[in-house]
Amino acid sequence: MSSNVKVQPQGGFVETPYIKDLVTRALAYLQAGFAVHFCGPAGTGKTTLALHVAQKLGRPVALTYGNSDFNPTDLIGGIYGYKERKVIDNFIHSVLKTEEEMTFRWTDAALTEACRKGYTLVYDEFTRSRPETNNVLLGVLEEKLLQLPPVKIGDTWLKVHPDFRAIFTSNPEEYAGVYRSQDALRDRMITINLDHFDEETEIAVTAAKSGLPLEDARRVVKIVRDYRTKKEYEYVPTVRASIAIAKVTRLQGLKPNNSDPFFRQICLDILTSQSNRAVTN
Ligand SMILES: Nc1ncnc2c1ncn2[C@@H]1O[C@H](COP(=O)(O)OP(=O)(O)OP(=O)(O)O)[C@@H](O)[C@H]1O
Ligand SMILES: [Mg+2]
Repeated sequence: MSSNVKVQPQGGFVETPYIKDLVTRALAYLQAGFAVHFCGPAGTGKTTLALHVAQKLGRPVALTYGNSDFNPTDLIGGIYGYKERKVIDNFIHSVLKTEEEMTFRWTDAALTEACRKGYTLVYDEFTRSRPETNNVLLGVLEEKLLQLPPVKIGDTWLKVHPDFRAIFTSNPEEYAGVYRSQDALRDRMITINLDHFDEETEIAVTAAKSGLPLEDARRVVKIVRDYRTKKEYEYVPTVRASIAIAKVTRLQGLKPNNSDPFFRQICLDILTSQSNRAVTN
């Protein structure tokens, strides 16, 4: 069964001009009825952005995460357990009458619930699910019809609620554990490609998430960005490295100062742990 979570608004969302532009574009496409897809490397803010934009739509949010073990049931729903009703009637002591009834219970998963009730579906990392699992989305996004499996008692087609919207996120195809999504599916969504934050956004996010003053966060971010642009490593440190260094720095009561050996060691540990699959040559 998929994680089918109703998401509450989160605090601490940073909105710089870079983020505002992305939010405005995504909302424009969603309001016109299109599905939106944020695609980008790790740590480029896809999940945070997807949840923020979903909340802006003002409808409940159904969140699900892709993975390779996913099957259509995890996306659509299935029969989970049954309800048993037993009546024992021995009103007349010499006669014992029993009556049993078993009802199988269908449970909607995130996609079906969102389609049925007009929620916003956030399908995070959707390309971690196998393409055949995601096939059901083709009809949902194009014909606005969700095909339910034959095990479902009752209708096998569900007309998608007019308020239903879908936001997808994915890592680029070269990432490990990511499937290449069908062209037909990509063709049914508007993809916004993301890259690492601009400097202003990375500083603002780092300060907000770590509690480090803005000026100190700026120094930390400069170290991480310098390391990132060196391109000596296959895996570059993301904003998570900036946040981690900043958080440890604040909690240890340090200043981001290169001449402090402890601060230097923290930077080294965090930066190399994020990029330890270094390209050796
Ligand atoms: N607009 C924002 N405001 C505040 N924090 C943010 C914002 N965007 C991203 N972050 C923070 O930056 C970090 C990375 O963001 P997020 O998890 O959304 O990236 P991602 O692209 O989904 O990464 P991954 O591909 O690894 O899942 C998280 O700690 C998140 O809380
Ligand atoms: Mg994510």
